[in-house]
Amino acid sequence: MTNEDYDKQSAREIIEGFENRPEMLVQILHAFLDRFGWISDEAIRQLASELNLSRADVHGVVSYYHDFRTSPPGKHVVKICEAEACQSMGSRELSEHAQESLGLGMHESNDDVTLEPVYCLGNCACSPAIMVDGKTFGRVNADRFDEIVATMNEAR
Ligand code: FES
Repeated sequence: MTNEDYDKQSAREIIEGFENRPEMLVQILHAFLDRFGWISDEAIRQLASELNLSRADVHGVVSYYHDFRTSPPGKHVVKICEAEACQSMGSRELSEHAQESLGLGMHESNDDVTLEPVYCLGNCACSPAIMVDGKTFGRVNADRFDEIVATMNEAR
């Protein structure tokens, strides 16, 4: 995951890549997320100004979608699939275990980790699935989850 400091020139280039089209706001926000890791107030102000939208318009879209986190993520991002196939294979219990073991609720972060739900990782045949820093893991139970997190922490 990229998590660069916000920089207005890079942000402008992203917006120009979408021809400054306000109807592309969701796609631009995804590109911001990929580049900067989160959507800051500064980003919202710049988007509003360059797309000729109100700040309330941009803020409304950002707050509607949980994907658009509005605070910096931890060093690692752990996503637990909570879509149907994974739920049928125990992702709810896995999610509870993850929250307990990381000491975080969903959509919460500390300096090390951000924990988020996700809705299908395209790995339904190997449910329940999780993603850690962009890498997908299948058939994850509580023990395997703890192993993956331990490895993630070693990789710092
Ligand atoms: S439902 Fe979880 S990977 Fe598809």
